[in-house]
Amino acid sequence: MTTIKQIGVLTGGGDCPGLNPVIRAVTRRAIRAGITVIGLRNGWMGLITGDTVPLTLETVSGILHRGGTILGTSRTNPYKKPEDVVKLKETVKTLGLDAIIAIGGEDTLGVATKLVKDGIHVVGVPKTIDNDLSQTDVTFGFDTAVNIVMEALDRLHTTAESHHRIMVAEVMGRHAGWIAVHAGIAGGADVILIPEEPIDIDAVCETIKHRHARGKDFSIVVVAEGAKFAKAADITVSEKLDEFGHVRLGGIGDQLGKMIEQRTGYETRVTVLGHIQRGGSPTAFDRVLGTRFGVKAVELVLAGQFGKMVSLQGNAIVAVPIEEATGKLKTVDRDLFELAKTFSG
Ligand code: F6P
Repeated sequence: MTTIKQIGVLTGGGDCPGLNPVIRAVTRRAIRAGITVIGLRNGWMGLITGDTVPLTLETVSGILHRGGTILGTSRTNPYKKPEDVVKLKETVKTLGLDAIIAIGGEDTLGVATKLVKDGIHVVGVPKTIDNDLSQTDVTFGFDTAVNIVMEALDRLHTTAESHHRIMVAEVMGRHAGWIAVHAGIAGGADVILIPEEPIDIDAVCETIKHRHARGKDFSIVVVAEGAKFAKAADITVSEKLDEFGHVRLGGIGDQLGKMIEQRTGYETRVTVLGHIQRGGSPTAFDRVLGTRFGVKAVELVLAGQFGKMVSLQGNAIVAVPIEEATGKLKTVDRDLFELAKTFSG
């Protein structure tokens, strides 16, 4: 088994509350095991260019409660250019990294899967506010995002009620509507629309009219950014693709708001919550989950369990193959979505 003396840590993809608690936990657990920790700046980019920062008891002090990532992040895909993979492997050697802990979502961990096949020792930590990674019950960041949206819905409720309006809240969720469903249930939304099910505008307007008929002259509609009408294309802010081939989603809330107002005659307003959902302090749940993930990731490195990702299953932190986590997205639980519909109309 490889003797582990030095490891690298990176955060890739969209930032998310809980990244700093993971970085802190990895560093503290590794130092306790006599391992030196090097922070790689801005995701895989740091490993291509050798842009590093030392992670010590001092540098990770005071970051537990902070949102974002002290390491910076990017959507760099080293496999876009073969020469970048060569440079990345050289950096691993030059820096003397015995293993890398990659904290990221589908894209970052997809790269990790390829690197493991190329002989690099990687352990993954799942991250995304969207909660759409397979093989883990939840990802950290999701709970914080849900709480932010829930609070926003509470606020939208009071103004909706005062003005007798329809409020449409567009939330994040590229491929899966986890945030929309959880925050929608917690915030008492009347209509929840998710990428997993085409939007039926007639049904949406019927629900709103039905509420009016029973004396409720305001309604709250939550729509995930990735939701669309049957057979329609993604609704985007920009067609420009990132290095993993993703467009920038956004705009479904506006489209929906206009249609609702036209069809029902009720005054409608639209709020796009956007990156507010990704910023700020993590909740206690996300701090604890991030801490448990970080400690377990180092333990997997110590055990030589490369190619594995830490995961929450029930209340246990376990190891699963990274490849299985990134192979298929985890979409919204049908039963939960059906339950949410009990409260519409
Ligand atoms: O994957 C998380 C996510 O928040 C998606 O819901 C969203 O589409 C995307 O990131 C937006 O990321 P950015 O604006 O940072 O490119």
